Amino acid sequence: MNPGNEEKKNDNLSAIMVIFGGTGDLTHRKLMPALYNLVYDKLLPERFAIVSVGRREKTNEQYRAEVLESLNKYSRNKIDEGCWARLRNLIYYMQFDFTDQSGYSRLKDFLEELDLKVHTEGNRIFYLAVAPEYFETIVYGIHTSNLAGNKKGWSRLVIEKPFGKDLVTARKLNNKLLKVFPENSIYRIDHYLGKEMIQNIMVLRFCNSVFESLWSNKFIDNIQISLLEKQGVGTRGEYYENSGAMRDMVQNHVMQILSLVAMEPPVNLKTDAIRTEKLKVIQAIEEFTPELLRDNAVFGQYGKGIVDGMPVPAYRDEEKVPKNSNTETFVALKLHINNFRWAGTPFYIRTGKRLGANSAEIVVQFKSLPKVLYFKERHVQEPNLLVIRIQPNVGVFFQFNTKDFSTHDGIIPTKMDTSHLSPAQGNTPEAYERLIFDILRGDATLFSRWDEVEASWMFADRIIEYREHKRFSFPNYEAGTMGPVKAFELLARDGKEWWNI
Ligand code: BG6
Repeated sequence: MNPGNEEKKNDNLSAIMVIFGGTGDLTHRKLMPALYNLVYDKLLPERFAIVSVGRREKTNEQYRAEVLESLNKYSRNKIDEGCWARLRNLIYYMQFDFTDQSGYSRLKDFLEELDLKVHTEGNRIFYLAVAPEYFETIVYGIHTSNLAGNKKGWSRLVIEKPFGKDLVTARKLNNKLLKVFPENSIYRIDHYLGKEMIQNIMVLRFCNSVFESLWSNKFIDNIQISLLEKQGVGTRGEYYENSGAMRDMVQNHVMQILSLVAMEPPVNLKTDAIRTEKLKVIQAIEEFTPELLRDNAVFGQYGKGIVDGMPVPAYRDEEKVPKNSNTETFVALKLHINNFRWAGTPFYIRTGKRLGANSAEIVVQFKSLPKVLYFKERHVQEPNLLVIRIQPNVGVFFQFNTKDFSTHDGIIPTKMDTSHLSPAQGNTPEAYERLIFDILRGDATLFSRWDEVEASWMFADRIIEYREHKRFSFPNYEAGTMGPVKAFELLARDGKEWWNI
């Protein structure tokens, strides 16, 4: 390994991308379509190759045909013959079992041959698109066969979530990775960071005086982060049973969003400056004691119900889920960030499966003005709300009060919604396109640094431990509704409500 080679990162995008898990779902649904769209947008470097490693026996031709089938299903751009021909020629398939050390030696020989053929100069991306139980085995194989030790080029490791199942296992995994790759060559994927509107949070905050000057406990009443899904766990019951909403969504995606929303302005836009400010937010979250959790955390699990007019089973009736499962498919939290900017302003978070809506949004509710001038019944003053719509709508909504022209002196809230207005918001590139491109450029800003992951686990572990030691009377919400009643009471107790704008 030659970490010094990272210096040259931006001048040289040529590389071989090795995908472990080449026949898996992630590769077919996300990685290949992303690579295709990078070709389509002319962003993939000239000198590039993809080597997919899988356990099943198949020829290059068979594998390429399967990739084309997936592209037809999942690509956001139509399949153009020329673009496909280009991508097709970059793809190779190699069969071996990840536990078979001789496979890595064969891979090494093959990569060296390809280097000469494609002029990729020893640059490598190792993408672990496999179940987490293989992470260590593969990195060990990369290590012992000296796959990442090429002195000529750079080597980067890309690792999907879950990064450990708690702080202890995450630390253990990280120590193993660090023996082979230095921290600045490890790209821990959180695909939410690849979403356009997540990247837009910093722009909205730090390029608009109207927002940033009001962005604190002095003017903000509360902030809500809702990541809501209609889908259930489907065929992922086995994974989800050991994960639950806390590990699946809160420890990673929600923590990342929270830190971007609450962070201080970084000293510059360099990767570490941004990550350092994000980390401080997670570290400043009020420590949850069991007493605090009793009042400020709500766990839920879906029962059967109707979603989009179709009957759907309860979580406990999903494939590979035990009938007495105590796993949460929903969680709502109220938390405080104990720093100067945020002390006293509650953050409400909720995420869950099989809900009545499919949306990811951040709602910032500003404090209301004193009712001194406009206090009559017809002077209904709604709070100013800024909604950052992440999906399915992309854009910003803002609510403010104006005179109701149809009345003598009534007041109505005006709702300004830019999420449909800008044509640039259409056809949002899939998160993976941006992330793969950034890995190629050696820009790790949209990936989680180890200390962020560590701090998130410290936060999540306390909540998970509390949940695991408690029996709940699950199911406690019907599929197709907006979650357990207690999630509504959590806000009602503070005289607030979840905004569904
Ligand atoms: C993944 C979770 O990380 O994020 C899934 O494992 C979840 O359970 C998914 O469905 C949500 O991502 P998106 O991009 O569809 O909102």
